[in-house]
Amino acid sequence: MLNVVILAAGQGKRMHSDRPKVLHPLGGRPLLAHVLETARELGADRICIVHGHGGEAVRQALDAPGLAWARQEPQLGTGHAVLQALPFLDDAATALVLYGDVPLIGAATLRRLLAVADDGLGILAAVLDDPTGYGRILRDAGGRVTRIVEQRDAAADELAVREINTGFMAAPVAALKRWLPALGNDNAQGEYYLTDIVGLAIAEGTAVATAQPEAPWEVLGVNSKPQLATLERIHQQNNARLLMESGVTLADPERIDVRGELDCGRDVAIDVNCVFAGRVVLGDGVEVGAHCVLRDAVIGAGTRIAPFSHIEEAEAGMNCLIGPYARLRPGTRLGDAAHIGNFVEVKNSLIGDGSKANHLAYLGDATLGRNVNIGAGTITCNYDGAAKHRTVIGDDAFIGSDSQLVAPVSVGRGATLGAGTTLTEDAPPERLTLTRTRQVTVPGWKRPAKKEG
Ligand code: UD1
Ligand code: CA
Repeated sequence: MLNVVILAAGQGKRMHSDRPKVLHPLGGRPLLAHVLETARELGADRICIVHGHGGEAVRQALDAPGLAWARQEPQLGTGHAVLQALPFLDDAATALVLYGDVPLIGAATLRRLLAVADDGLGILAAVLDDPTGYGRILRDAGGRVTRIVEQRDAAADELAVREINTGFMAAPVAALKRWLPALGNDNAQGEYYLTDIVGLAIAEGTAVATAQPEAPWEVLGVNSKPQLATLERIHQQNNARLLMESGVTLADPERIDVRGELDCGRDVAIDVNCVFAGRVVLGDGVEVGAHCVLRDAVIGAGTRIAPFSHIEEAEAGMNCLIGPYARLRPGTRLGDAAHIGNFVEVKNSLIGDGSKANHLAYLGDATLGRNVNIGAGTITCNYDGAAKHRTVIGDDAFIGSDSQLVAPVSVGRGATLGAGTTLTEDAPPERLTLTRTRQVTVPGWKRPAKKEG
């Protein structure tokens, strides 16, 4: 049985932010959400989050069924923090200590740590060129771990040790219940150090074993904005590699940002500097041009999105052409083979199969049938200052350029609107409707001319 304790009570002063540290986003999700996901991936039977500073906000943002929240106030050290979690843990379980601000830790590494810990104490260690700031792992002549000494408590020869404690530990809950209440705080920081359980384990004859992370970046923590940015890049590189390994073509893996979940079919190609947020699904053969932003979007197979398009809470069918410079706003659904061209904004509208709005238009709260042609400059006047109204356009209708459709209004199937029409009443099917005044040419008219001299 596995119980996970996530330490997240630290203040995060060096972030210089009012937001609790573990709520800062990495890949579009709070740091702590990444750690929770990993805990769940390990099949944790219980998860206890130790929170303190800004803890209510953290709880509100991430509470879910099955999570236990232990408050640590004041914060007297990592040993004191894990002590607060003990009442929520199962005596028969192994406890795994994770950190809310170390988000890239991988499940495979943690399985390794749990395996070496067995029924004893497991420590995730790493060997660093520059171990400054970390607790050093001290070993005896036989290579057995004897102690972890914190930087501030270490003697000169101990500071030279390059093997460090990453902080991740695994131990039986029952053992922690013996060890943690016995910790003292007689050290340079006056804190109850979790690391001091090593001595207690050894005194009891409990085995102490170490494991190493699969990748060194897994154990990097976030204490500042520069560190957050460093981890964001690593996370994005990992995303990009997974996408390419699954067959996606990326013009440049260094220039894609996935802030959520991106699900791609076969032969998807993504050009540079695209941002994908929320949950985005790209069907087989979808091409996304440079500098596009997609959030919560589903794009059908064969659809091409040209550069600089912005798509949010919208869906497109198969073989559509979108952009360049198209904007699809929430509630938009394009059928198959629809075209939405440059400087066209579509909001809360259904665009039928084969319908086209290729240039400079606003379609808001509209329902278009199939094969409708929307001329350049067309606007649905959907808002009267108080309420929104719908525009309904039948199959095969042709809307002349620079028309305004004052909703609520409908255009019949096969109808044509003359260019420049201001439609305030329904247009009948199959007929030409237009509202402009007739063109006249004035006979004998002369342009006024300036008098000479
Ligand atoms: C700790 C380890 C050190 C290790 C390092 C790795 C101890 C005594 N030292 O040191 O050996 O090399 O991590 O980064 O464990 N926290 C609480 N409540 C507290 C104190 C801390 O929740 O009272 C949380 C913090 O939010 C943070 C984590 O525990 O997520 C580590 O705390 P921090 O003060 O950064 O530990 P270090 O002193 O760096
Ligand atoms: Ca500390």
